[in-house]
Amino acid sequence: MIDRIIRFRRVSSTQDTAKRYIQERCELAVTALFQNNGRGRQGRTWYSPRGGLYVSLLLFPKKRLTSIPLLASLSIIRTLEEFGFSKLLVHWPNDVLLNNHKVCGIVCERYRDAVICGIGLNVNIERFGQRLTNATSLKLQSGKDFSIEEILESLISQFNDLYNELQARGLKIKEVLNYISDLGEPVEVVTAKGVTKGTVCNIDDDWALLLRDESGIIKKFYYGDVRRLSW
Ligand code: BTN
Repeated sequence: MIDRIIRFRRVSSTQDTAKRYIQERCELAVTALFQNNGRGRQGRTWYSPRGGLYVSLLLFPKKRLTSIPLLASLSIIRTLEEFGFSKLLVHWPNDVLLNNHKVCGIVCERYRDAVICGIGLNVNIERFGQRLTNATSLKLQSGKDFSIEEILESLISQFNDLYNELQARGLKIKEVLNYISDLGEPVEVVTAKGVTKGTVCNIDDDWALLLRDESGIIKKFYYGDVRRLSW
């Protein structure tokens, strides 16, 4: 359970800053106003100017490690609903889409006996570079500015509720299934091992994607990039 938030103005990446607190053996959040080297999944960079929420949660989960990304996605969805947003979807494994545009990215890294769950939410950002054609922010979608601090507080509170539930009883995937963007859709999953085409048939309780491939075999993916083949 996160009961401490450590705030910085500028860091290289909150993921790396969070690692420095591992000796303290308590679960906490590290946040910054900017990041010089924000990191995304699979070696990508994360655009991190002022106006975004950048937070890394240092966690020592006793069980159900693979559900942490799911839990983070659901916490973001509940938080954004609290702030009046709808049309929210999770693009497996852990992008949150608002009106079909990416508003939030989540990356989970193992570090010794900890998991560092990094969340980047585009709050008041008004412009994205040309490469980020599918990115959006809360401001671009609503025309309004938001308090990053209020969003952070709500996020931590939603996360703590779900995290306690997860550790005590396990998490029901059901709530998230309502928000999965590609269920039943033809997609390709790109991993380091190659590209697999198929139809998304389900998400497991451990947050793995189940894909029925072109020969009807069900394949299980714990990581990868999912691309929709038809919209
Ligand atoms: C992705 O979509 O690829 C994941 C992006 C995760 C970005 C967040 S911002 C806070 C934390 N610090 C980082 O350097 N990365 C994560």
